[in-house]
Amino acid sequence: MRTIEWDEQSQNLRIIDQRQLPEKFEYIVINNYKAIAEAISSMAVRGAPAIGVTAAYGMVLAALHSQADTKETFMREMRQVAQELEAARPTAVNLPWALKRMLSVMDMEASISQNRQILLGEAHAMAEEDVVVNKTISDYGAALINDGDTLIHHCNTGALATVDWGTALGCIRFAFEQGKRIHVLVDETRPRLQGARLTAWELQNLGIPFDIISDNAAGYFLSSGQVNKVFFGADRVAANGDVANKIGSYMLALAAKDNDVPVYSVFPTSTVDLSLDSGGQIPIEEREQEEVLALTLKGQRVAPAGASARNPAFDVTPARLISAYITELGIIEQPFETHYHEFLHRKDS
Ligand code: MRU
Repeated sequence: MRTIEWDEQSQNLRIIDQRQLPEKFEYIVINNYKAIAEAISSMAVRGAPAIGVTAAYGMVLAALHSQADTKETFMREMRQVAQELEAARPTAVNLPWALKRMLSVMDMEASISQNRQILLGEAHAMAEEDVVVNKTISDYGAALINDGDTLIHHCNTGALATVDWGTALGCIRFAFEQGKRIHVLVDETRPRLQGARLTAWELQNLGIPFDIISDNAAGYFLSSGQVNKVFFGADRVAANGDVANKIGSYMLALAAKDNDVPVYSVFPTSTVDLSLDSGGQIPIEEREQEEVLALTLKGQRVAPAGASARNPAFDVTPARLISAYITELGIIEQPFETHYHEFLHRKDS
């Protein structure tokens, strides 16, 4: 199953519509970049790595349909499109990361049609790399999971949040496939319920034992000694190791720290933003209040008519609450700031 797939014949992008899961498994076929921006902002496609690659194909679609007759106009148009796509969701740095990468491969010496092929090739490369990187990450992360472990997982970091395989959930999947007996407590992840809808669906398909828990039950499970490790992803990691991730990650990490349960944040290096010193500088997306207010019980809205809500989609977990970071470079211990650079140097040399 690939979350995002390019159809060579029709020159369209096919994505799984995650808003419909688990009720319906449906694809949306997208043929223009504006619809790509809409799919990202409405969360038909979501998860930091997945939105990065989707946006890259958005650039491809814009390039294919461009009416520009000079290279200069074409380049200007592509920069404009990148800006529009970047605005679709502000927190995950994978989005600007992918768009910058697409802009950087464009070649002023080449023709417009050659640039279209260059962009398509780069988007394909990014999609393929994502799967390889996720498998490498998962291999490192699975080594931290022991036979008999119970893990809390927050949000969805599985195949659906990436092109394929997943990050934090990929580690869990790898450990399970290695024969380790594990149990996953799946945070519901209010308000969009990525845990209860998407992670539960993925775990069910993989045959990995799990129970869904309400987000506010995590503290109880941690304090009563029923959890060995906490795994979650990341949308942007600042230079000091502070991690922006799905709302609720911070409270979960606090409760884990208070009970000496290790917390692992799992992400590709494309999620690291070294231009920001600390998590306080990470832009936090605030989504429409209706996502919170839409909750119904027995067909009735829970909130009284006229009530308002706040809906930050992410929070920042300070580095001091994170035991280690799992990336494709390896397992990075604290202090992140020092060790991440060591890993980067090792990779470059
Ligand atoms: O709002 P979402 O569903 O896009 O948020 C997703 C997360 O917070 C994930 O943990 C993160 O993007 C990592 S996905 C591999």
